[in-house]
Amino acid sequence: VASLGGLLLMGYLLGSIPFGIILTRMAGAGDLRSIGSGNIGATNVLRTGRKGLAAATLLFDLGKGAVAIAIAESVAPGSGPIAGLGAFFGHLYPIWLKFNGGKGVATLLGIAIALYWPLGIVFAVVWLAVAFATRFSSLGGIMAAAAMPVAAWGFGREQALWVFMIMLGFVLWKHRGNIQRLIAGTEPRIGKSSAS
Ligand code: G3P
Repeated sequence: VASLGGLLLMGYLLGSIPFGIILTRMAGAGDLRSIGSGNIGATNVLRTGRKGLAAATLLFDLGKGAVAIAIAESVAPGSGPIAGLGAFFGHLYPIWLKFNGGKGVATLLGIAIALYWPLGIVFAVVWLAVAFATRFSSLGGIMAAAAMPVAAWGFGREQALWVFMIMLGFVLWKHRGNIQRLIAGTEPRIGKSSAS
């Protein structure tokens, strides 16, 4: 029987694979860390102008959260939230990038889908509604992450609630630069090529 610590570590190692950097480099689209915001997520991959590459990054970053949970649940039922949390922290603080990782939005979506798929629907609806209305990817991610604890409570998934509360805290922390830019009116909108 795998220990919870082992499953947390498994999630962390999966989550720390920086798919945005790997895919962008493989496609010959440059070094993601020196493009746009320098972030390793799908939003920044989109700033290379490669929509397919951005979609692939979203899918892989989402997938690593979902796969970590699927593996954990098959080994030890009920351990999904721990492994998901591991994957989330792996994406935010990856060992391969000197602990300078991403902002966690795509991985959080994968975790939501794998823990209880209706949460994934809520996440996607909130993200799409905010992003289409404002064209701020960051605001969409923040609002969708904020909707998760509320939705988990509404669906009666109390065991997932604390995981989403923790993740929301870190999503806000990781988006502190975006939040400052949103307030200052300098946050780039989707479709614009630069971010400071
Ligand atoms: O998922 C990341 C997104 O919310 C913000 O990315 O590159 O605009 O800082 P970025």
